Amino acid sequence: MALTHCLLLIFVLPHSSQLLAVSLRSPTRQSAPAFAQMKGSVLVTGAAGGIGSALCKLFREKGYQVFAADRKASPAIDSLKGDSSVVPLPGLDLTSSESIKRLADSLLSSNAKLDIVIQNAGVLDERGIDLFNLDFDSIRESMQVNAVGPLELTVELLKRDLVRSPGGKIALMTSQMGSVDDNSSGGYYGYRMSKSAMNICAKSLSIDLKRYGIAVCLLHPGYVQTQMTGYNGNIKPETSAKGLEAQIDALDMTNTGTWWNYRGEVLPW
Ligand SMILES: NC(=O)c1ccc[n+]([C@@H]2O[C@H](COP(=O)([O-])OP(=O)(O)OC[C@H]3O[C@@H](n4cnc5c(N)ncnc54)[C@H](OP(=O)(O)O)[C@@H]3O)[C@@H](O)[C@H]2O)c1
Repeated sequence: MALTHCLLLIFVLPHSSQLLAVSLRSPTRQSAPAFAQMKGSVLVTGAAGGIGSALCKLFREKGYQVFAADRKASPAIDSLKGDSSVVPLPGLDLTSSESIKRLADSLLSSNAKLDIVIQNAGVLDERGIDLFNLDFDSIRESMQVNAVGPLELTVELLKRDLVRSPGGKIALMTSQMGSVDDNSSGGYYGYRMSKSAMNICAKSLSIDLKRYGIAVCLLHPGYVQTQMTGYNGNIKPETSAKGLEAQIDALDMTNTGTWWNYRGEVLPW
């Protein structure tokens, strides 16, 4: 690859001597002709879940090419394939670096250029809730799925120049339960810790990616009727998805680094 086609992105980690050098190819590569008629392209993780499948459906309706990634194949996603604007990408396990790289490689080989990345996959493990009944392996796994894995996926996408630059958007699905200011009831160690980690990760990403014109936001979807909540939420996934899409639409370089809920309210850290 010619040097002129490379950008060298150097993340300097404060309080550490570590340097992470990431080679980004220049954004000259064109999208595949098959995607040319689309409004844009979006990657959704946790695509088979309650909120994920509602997001896939909504973005497809809005004319996007949707890359729908999840651990397993799902009838919900397969039923959206129809006109091929939804591409199911089963086999993404956020606890596995190999699987994360495989997803990024398959997007690269399909010549994708992502306008929007929605890192929606997440886990709430009951074994991480009560102080005197904690399973620390489950807490480690929550950290991996809810924070470390999404960061790793972001880096693997950036390394392959898969996110549009400038103009790309990365939305990270967190939870109000990751807010320090909002924590008045305690407990939920694995979930709260991992979503807080996701929050600070998003803040750093928003700063580091400014120079590439890639905007980053955090989203809280509301209390949504999905498997995660035992279907006890107070809104449907479709309502949440509609609000989330509006926030992603409003995301740009002037408000990068903001944390919104699905109603567009800015949440406290
Ligand atoms: N529902 C709410 O009220 C609520 C509130 C605040 C935040 N959130 C957040 O919203 C997001 C979506 O949640 P949801 O309510 O739609 O829950 P959900 O229906 O349980 O969906 C979660 C999705 O994440 C996937 N996932 C879990 N572990 C994974 C792993 N190791 N690797 C890759 N994917 C994995 C799941 O795949 P499998 O089907 O294979 O398990 C599933 O598709 C999550 O990040 C959640 O924390 C939800």
